[in-house]
Amino acid sequence: MGKTDEMKWSTLYSSRVASMGHSDVAEMLKLSERPEVISFAGGLPDPAVFLLDEIKDIFQEVLRERGRAALGYGPTQGIGPFREWLAERMTGASRPTRVTECLVTTGGIAAVDLICKVLLDPGDVVIVGEPSYLAALHVIRSYQGRFAGVPLDGEGMEPDALASVIGELKNRSLRPKFIYLVPSFQNPSGVTIPEDRRRKIVEIAAQNHVPVVEDAAYRDLRFEGEAPPLLASLDPLNVIHINTLSKTFNPGIRIGWVTGPEPLIETLALAKQGQDQCSTTIGQYAALAFATKGLIDRQITRSVEIYARKRDAMLAALDKYFPEEARWTRPEGGFYAWITLAGKIDTEALLPVCIEAASVAFGAGPSFYHNRQGKEHMRLCYSYVPEEQIEEGIRRLGALLSGIMIGETP
Ligand SMILES: Cc1ncc(COP(=O)(O)O)c(C=O)c1O
Repeated sequence: MGKTDEMKWSTLYSSRVASMGHSDVAEMLKLSERPEVISFAGGLPDPAVFLLDEIKDIFQEVLRERGRAALGYGPTQGIGPFREWLAERMTGASRPTRVTECLVTTGGIAAVDLICKVLLDPGDVVIVGEPSYLAALHVIRSYQGRFAGVPLDGEGMEPDALASVIGELKNRSLRPKFIYLVPSFQNPSGVTIPEDRRRKIVEIAAQNHVPVVEDAAYRDLRFEGEAPPLLASLDPLNVIHINTLSKTFNPGIRIGWVTGPEPLIETLALAKQGQDQCSTTIGQYAALAFATKGLIDRQITRSVEIYARKRDAMLAALDKYFPEEARWTRPEGGFYAWITLAGKIDTEALLPVCIEAASVAFGAGPSFYHNRQGKEHMRLCYSYVPEEQIEEGIRRLGALLSGIMIGETP
C-alpha cells in the first residue's frame, strides 16, 4: 500500500460487523434533528421534563461537597451509596435486593450489551418478542446471536406461544440462552403484560432453565391503572432485571443498572472492565442527590402529566384522521403507539416517501423485527413531538395513508 492509498477498512472487519446489518437507530435519531420534519420516529424524552434548575444546583452541590473525587474514576460496580439507593429502590419494588446484586451501567443499552457479552457465544439463540426493541436486537446481532421469535398480542407475550417456541427449540436440541422482554409499555408496541401472564412466563422460563432478561425502561411512566409486579419480584433467581435513568432523570447522564443474582453480577462487572471500566462518577453522585431529594419522583409526576396529554392527543388524532382499516394500541404509559395497517402497505418503502411528501417520519415495522418482517406496522412515538404538532403530524400521515388505500400515488 502506497502512502496515499486509502485503507480498505471493510476488508479488515470482523464477521460481527456483517451480522450487525445497518443502523436503524442512527437513522431515527437523524430524522429527529431535521427541523421541518414532524418526527414520530425516535424514542426520545421531551426535554421539557428535565428539571433544569434543580440539576444545575445539584451538579454545583456535588462538586462543592465531593470536590475532585467526583471527577475521578469510580468502582466498576458503581459507587457504594448509589448502589445502596438502587438496592433500596428494587427492594421497594418487591424484589428484595442486596447492594452486591446491583451493577451500575452506562445506560440501559450498555446493560443489554454486558449481558450479551457474558451469555452469548456466536450462534446462541435468544427468544425475543415479535416486535422487539430495535437496539436490543442490534446488540444481540452484534454478538452473533440467533433469534427465536414469539409473536406478541395486545397483552404482550403469550405464555403458551412461548412454551411452544421453547419446545420446538428443544426438539432441535437448542437451549435458548435467555428470553428478552420489555414487560411494561413495550418498545415498540406500547403493550403491557398483565400479572397472570407474567406469572406463567416466569414459571415456563424457570421450568426450562432459561433466564429472563426484564427490561423495565418505561415502567415508571404509568399514566393510569395498576402496575403489575416486576418479573424480578416473581422469580429473583431466574430474572435479570435491567433498568435506566434515561426516562426518569435524563439520557445524557448515561446511567442504567442490572439487578440479578450475585455471581452473575460479579461476572458482568468483570466484563464491564473491558467495556468502560466504570460509569460516570459525577453522574452517579448527581443522580443520587437527585433521587434522595425526591426529584426523581417529582420528574416522574411531571413526565406522566406531559406524556399522558401527548398520548391523548395522538390517540384522538388517530381516531380522527387514520383510515378505518388501520388498528392501533392504546398504551397506558411509556412513549409508543403501534399501528397495524391493513392491506399491502409497506411501511419501510413508505417512510422516505412520507418524509418527502408530508414531512412526517415514523418507525417502520421491519426495524423492530429480528427477521425484518412486519412491514404492515409502524411505531409512532408521541413523547418528543411538541404537543401542538401531534394532530398536524397525524393528519398528514393519515391523509397519505388514506390516499394510498384508495390507490393514489403519494
Ligand atoms: C426498551 C428500552 N430499553 C433500554 C433503553 C435504553 O436506554 P439508555 O441506554 O438510553 O439508558 C431504551 C431506550 O430507548 C428502551 O426503549
